[in-house]
Amino acid sequence: MDGEYDVLVIGTAALDIKVHTRALAIEPELSNPAIIELGFGGVARNIAENLVRLGGDVSLISAVGVDEAGTQIVQQLRDVGIHTDAMIVTADHNTGAFVGIYQLDKRLRVAFDDMQVIRLITPGYLNQHRSLFHDADVICIDANLSARALETVFRLARAYDVPVCADATTPLLAQRLHPFLPELAALAANRAEAEALLGTHFRDEDEVLQGARRLAQLGVDLAIITQGAEGLSYATSDESGRLPAFNVEVVDPVGAGDALTAAVAYGLAEGLAPTEVVRLGLAAAAQTIVCQETVCPYISLEVLYERLVV
Ligand SMILES: Nc1ncnc2c1ncn2[C@@H]1O[C@H](COP(=O)(O)OP(=O)(O)OP(=O)(O)O)[C@@H](O)[C@H]1O
Ligand SMILES: [Mg+2]
Repeated sequence: MDGEYDVLVIGTAALDIKVHTRALAIEPELSNPAIIELGFGGVARNIAENLVRLGGDVSLISAVGVDEAGTQIVQQLRDVGIHTDAMIVTADHNTGAFVGIYQLDKRLRVAFDDMQVIRLITPGYLNQHRSLFHDADVICIDANLSARALETVFRLARAYDVPVCADATTPLLAQRLHPFLPELAALAANRAEAEALLGTHFRDEDEVLQGARRLAQLGVDLAIITQGAEGLSYATSDESGRLPAFNVEVVDPVGAGDALTAAVAYGLAEGLAPTEVVRLGLAAAAQTIVCQETVCPYISLEVLYERLVV
C-alpha cells in the first residue's frame, strides 16, 4: 500500500440541486426567485471525494444513469483521482438527485431525493467486486444501500477483517443500520438520525451523550452523534465525552457531516485513538463549513492538523 491507505466507499452519487430562497415566504403555485446551485453530491460520493483529498487510495461503488448528470459525475470522480472501475452506469434508471430548499439562514426547509438507481448495488454485484473488500484498509458506507446489500457488505468485511464505518445519512435511512450496529467500527449520526436509530427523543445534551453510550453498548466500537453548531458526543466501550464544534464563520454547513465521517474513516484506517479520530472529524467539519462547496476543494491532512494545533 506504499504509504497510502486503501478505502472502499459504497453508496450514493447524485446530482445536488440547492435552492436558496430569497424571500421569507414561498408563494405557492408560482415560480419564486431563488439562487440555485448545481453540484455533485450523494453521501458516499462526498465521503469518497473527502478521502481522496485526505490522501486515500479510494474506490467508489455507486450507480448512476447514462444521462448527462451521470456522465459528469463519473468524469469528476476520475478527475479527482477516485477509482471508478466498480461504478455502475445504467440505462434503466436516471442518475440519483437531491433537491434541497434552504431558507435565508441556510437551514434546510424541505428536500426531495430520488436514489432508486442505488438498488442496482446488489449482493451479486458486491460479490463480483470482493477483491476491493479484500484490499481495503477501511470500508465506508452510507445508509442508502438495501438491507440485502448491507448484509453482503458486512459479510465480506467480516471475511476479510476490514473495519466498516457508516454515515447514518438521514433519519429514515438510519434505521437500516440497526441490525448491523454490533459490526460497526464507527458510526457517525446526526442528532435526528441517532434518535431514529434508537427510537427515542433526546431532551437535552446529556441525553445525547447517553445516546452515544447506548450505541456503544449495542456494539458500535466508536459511536458519534453530531449536534450541528453544538459539536458532538462520542462513546466507545470504555470512554465517552462531548466536544464543542470549532469556532468558525459559517459559510455553508452542508457536507460538514460527510467530511466528518470521511475523517473518521481515515482515522480508522490509520488505527488512531478514538479521541484523535473524533477531533480530526471536527476539524474536517470545520474546514467544510468555511467552504461554499459541499466538499471543500482544498481539504487535506495538513489543513486538518493545522486546525488541530491552533
Ligand atoms: N453551524 C455550525 N457551526 C459550527 N459547526 C458546525 C455547524 N454545523 C455543523 N457543524 C459541525 O459539523 C459537524 C456535523 O454537523 P451536523 O450535525 O449538522 O451533521 P449533518 O446533519 O450530518 O450534516 P450534513 O449531512 O449536511 O453533512 C458538527 O459536529 C459540527 O462539528
Ligand atoms: Mg450527514
